[in-house]
Amino acid sequence: MTLNWPYPFWIAHRGAGRQAPENTLAALRHGHALGWRAFEVDAKISADRVPFLMHDTTLDRTTTEHGRAGDRPWSELQNLDAGAWHQSEHAFEPIPSLAQVLNFVFAHQAVLNIEIKPTPGEDHATGEAVAALALQRWKASCERNRPLQAPLPTMPILSSFQPLCLRAAQATAPALPRALLINQLRAHWMDEAVELGCCACVVQHELVDAPMIEGLKARGLKVWIYTVNEPEEARRLAAWGVDGLITDAVHLFDPEVNPRVDPSGIRVREPARS
Ligand code: G3P
Ligand code: MG
Repeated sequence: MTLNWPYPFWIAHRGAGRQAPENTLAALRHGHALGWRAFEVDAKISADRVPFLMHDTTLDRTTTEHGRAGDRPWSELQNLDAGAWHQSEHAFEPIPSLAQVLNFVFAHQAVLNIEIKPTPGEDHATGEAVAALALQRWKASCERNRPLQAPLPTMPILSSFQPLCLRAAQATAPALPRALLINQLRAHWMDEAVELGCCACVVQHELVDAPMIEGLKARGLKVWIYTVNEPEEARRLAAWGVDGLITDAVHLFDPEVNPRVDPSGIRVREPARS
């Protein structure tokens, strides 16, 4: 897939979900206030196929409830507390629907990397529902911007470890860009990404070396690396020519400096004075 690459270098992991509860609007607001304009989030579907944000298969770690999240209807999920586990000041922070998060991102001139993270057995349905919604909200945002003569919003990019999710997304919304996530090397994975019509690969940081980046670029694929929280590693990867980094360290890195175009490279913020 050829694509004029509109994505920022820096992407906040789980919606900037370290200092605020991951995959919530509170996290995105926190990241946005710090200058972040690109967010990675994890999306799955409810029992009635509403896409929502959650990393784990179960509710146990990030809500006050238990059991598989995808077995519950959205009417139940939207009332759960997804903030108290993190800090009492975030108590009652709700699980957001993907539609709410897309609306936030478009309203704040930001960009979303939606990781399709299906409940086991729901790969196809999740890829389909997430892609359909992302395309529909992007089109709605374009329509809203048109009379204002505002620039068109950037398309969400869909990423997944699961090829079945990416195939379903491709069939549902072929116009949306896709990326293959890699956390374990397997035979022919770069060619698989090309065959899936992906424009990028998102690779786990401990797996990367310079020849791998060359191999991806030789196939016309962009390269994002996750999760990079150390300045030294970020500098090495930027020197190797990666196209983006996904990080938890939203207080440390300055997202307004893109080392692909700015010779000052990776910029680390001064610690706040007390
Ligand atoms: O999309 C990159 C990264 O989010 C993949 O790992 O487990 O944090 O979703 P995980
Ligand atoms: Mg993720």
